[in-house]
Amino acid sequence: MMDVKKCRITHYPSPVLGEKAKPVEKIDENIALLAEKMIEIMVDTKGVGLAGPQAGVGLRIFVASPDGSRESAKVYINPEISPSGSTEVGQEGCLSLPGIYGNITRCKKCTIKATGLDGKEFAEEAEGLKARIFQHEYDHLEGTLVADRLSTVARISARKKLKKLRQQHVEQND
Ligand code: NI
Repeated sequence: MMDVKKCRITHYPSPVLGEKAKPVEKIDENIALLAEKMIEIMVDTKGVGLAGPQAGVGLRIFVASPDGSRESAKVYINPEISPSGSTEVGQEGCLSLPGIYGNITRCKKCTIKATGLDGKEFAEEAEGLKARIFQHEYDHLEGTLVADRLSTVARISARKKLKKLRQQHVEQND
């Protein structure tokens, strides 16, 4: 089991970001600690969502707080999402891809079903920013990054920044 104290933000191209995360089998104290740590990382880095792989843990869990506050932060374990309705384009960034922003097409609405830290299943309807956050974080659990969803033109302009992130990754892991 992971050592939650060692969890920190992972950046592209950490392998865990490109892998499909595994279901959380049991909601125990360690998962509660992980969720707490993920909320801390999200709030400290001024994000509105953070998925397990972004904390270096390949488990199907994410936290979200549409207004970025600790008070609004909520935990979603083993989430299933059903995007619906028409799509819209909006700018997205990602804590794991510093400096990269792109216009990403998402469904305006989605329904999410997940389990909370109390072990109870719940469902939420979301639209606008919240629906976008859910779709972005769910992507992380599938190993998909915004860089994978950029248009061809945006991908070309992000190429240098992606290369720089890959170089930093090599340096940090040497
Ligand atoms: Ni992200």
